[in-house]
Amino acid sequence: MNTNDSAPEIQQAMSRVKLLWGVCGSFSAIAVPHVNAWLRGAVGVREVKVVLTRQAQDLVTSRMIETVTGHRPVTGWEDHSGAGAAHVTLGNWADVMVVLPATANFLAKAAHGIADDVLTTTLLATDCPVVIAPVMNATMWSKPAVRRNADQLRADGYHLVEPQEGVSLTEGNKENGSLGDFRPVISTALVKAITQSVRSEGQ
Ligand SMILES: Cc1cc2nc3c(=O)[nH]c(=O)nc-3n(C[C@H](O)[C@H](O)[C@H](O)COP(=O)(O)O)c2cc1C
Repeated sequence: MNTNDSAPEIQQAMSRVKLLWGVCGSFSAIAVPHVNAWLRGAVGVREVKVVLTRQAQDLVTSRMIETVTGHRPVTGWEDHSGAGAAHVTLGNWADVMVVLPATANFLAKAAHGIADDVLTTTLLATDCPVVIAPVMNATMWSKPAVRRNADQLRADGYHLVEPQEGVSLTEGNKENGSLGDFRPVISTALVKAITQSVRSEGQ
């Protein structure tokens, strides 16, 4: 499914979407500019703001994120000034939240309601639909603990997408667990998430 194949009200809703994007400490964080170009261009979302986990900040720079999104990423509690706390302000701002790449660590924290940084706290503070795209090597993805956390997040109502087969950026081999061609799975999950929020607005 492509967002362009969706009903006109979904396409219209997509063009109003303010998307909050959590980026975790996976090597695939370096794909942020490409994914952002696709989200803003092909999908047509209105505005993107990024929250970087501590570990993600070792892999991508704030300058790079600001250059492609037009907003300085949130890197910690101290980045937020003014009224309200970061997690509440960001959670209220977002129409949809995407966590991509989501690490095994993020899945574990999210599945257990742990809120020890801006990203995991915002996840609990928002009512908007959330799409989670895990990325990790095939061995990590196969571990029962990781699969249990993924199943729990699905049961909790998150739009958790399956990792794709792709070439590992570190090992060079083909394996299941990468972002692969993220576009079809992410757009399907986004359309589902937006459809859900358009329906609940109409009730
Ligand atoms: C270069 C590098 C690449 C990594 N890639 C991944 C990955 O793809 N998936 C994953 O689950 N963890 C990966 N890790 C491990 C995580 O960064 C680590 O578990 C960290 O605690 C995650 O923190 P976060 O979830 O707050 O971002 C990687 C670590 C490094 C140093």
